[in-house]
Amino acid sequence: MTRSKKLTQFEYKKRLIKTWNEVAPRYHKRWAKNNVGPFKSSSELVKLANVRPGHTVLDLACGTGAITKRIAARVGISGKVVGIDSSISAIKIAKKETKNKTNLDFVLSDAEFIKFNKKFDVVTCQYALFFFPNAQKVLKNIKQYLKKNGILALTLHGNKDTVPYFSSILDVITKFIPDYALQGTPNLDRFGTKDQLKKIISRAGFTDIKIQEYVFTYRPGTFSDYWQNYLKYLSKPLKEKVKALSIIQKQKMKNQIKQNTLPYTKGGGQIIFPWKVLILTAKSS
Ligand SMILES: C[S@@+](CC[C@H](N)C(=O)[O-])C[C@H]1O[C@@H](n2cnc3c(N)ncnc32)[C@H](O)[C@@H]1O
Repeated sequence: MTRSKKLTQFEYKKRLIKTWNEVAPRYHKRWAKNNVGPFKSSSELVKLANVRPGHTVLDLACGTGAITKRIAARVGISGKVVGIDSSISAIKIAKKETKNKTNLDFVLSDAEFIKFNKKFDVVTCQYALFFFPNAQKVLKNIKQYLKKNGILALTLHGNKDTVPYFSSILDVITKFIPDYALQGTPNLDRFGTKDQLKKIISRAGFTDIKIQEYVFTYRPGTFSDYWQNYLKYLSKPLKEKVKALSIIQKQKMKNQIKQNTLPYTKGGGQIIFPWKVLILTAKSS
């Protein structure tokens, strides 16, 4: 694919599904399963969403079930949780991890096209809104399936400057590999400030919008651990792009990335990254 070719929404989604089918097991092992770094938000999200026994909850883009499992424990046997995700490999992991639970279902579906014959008390969505090319359509669609005064609860990463785990690498890698993110890929930090987030949620017709900001920390180890792990967890197409650079380019790129991590490098060469997270709650009127 050349730089000039712009992905259609359909092509972008197809690629995203392929990526998540490949990376879901690694994502689960490294992040979702353990409460590390930004995942400290999981318990906060469930608390702020005010999930209670007997509630029915939709967990949108549930991935491997990090939030879904917690919600199931909260709603108890009189409640119900439905997790939907467009990655079959993520859904399989979520099902495997929760196989004896009766108050929870996982469904393979695109968030843009969900259809239910019932309404929910709460809809949650952690670290996924920015992946939806038409986030506005998804939000309007969700609203139909929330009861009156039902709660929407979303978790998002802060914009890239507040998440140096991403920006230390991405600011550099995108200079060396201009087509690292293909044209037509939505900007993944477009809801990373309170203003940006509030705007899209109120445009979709939600009210009583509240946004809490958190700064968690993430310790990826030394620079070498950080870089090696980043490469290890990349999807194949991106790995190929990095591999295609010359040894000199790779070294230059690595040095510039290392420079970016120095402000966060402490004694013994250990990196401690701050990681801003936004949790929004809103009501459907
Ligand atoms: C960063 S993961 C978050 C997963 C989970 N919410 C968590 O907190 O671990 C993003 C998830 O969004 C899903 N996703 C992306 N676009 C989607 C869409 N259009 N419909 C449904 N799921 C989608 C991916 O398959 C992936 O599992």
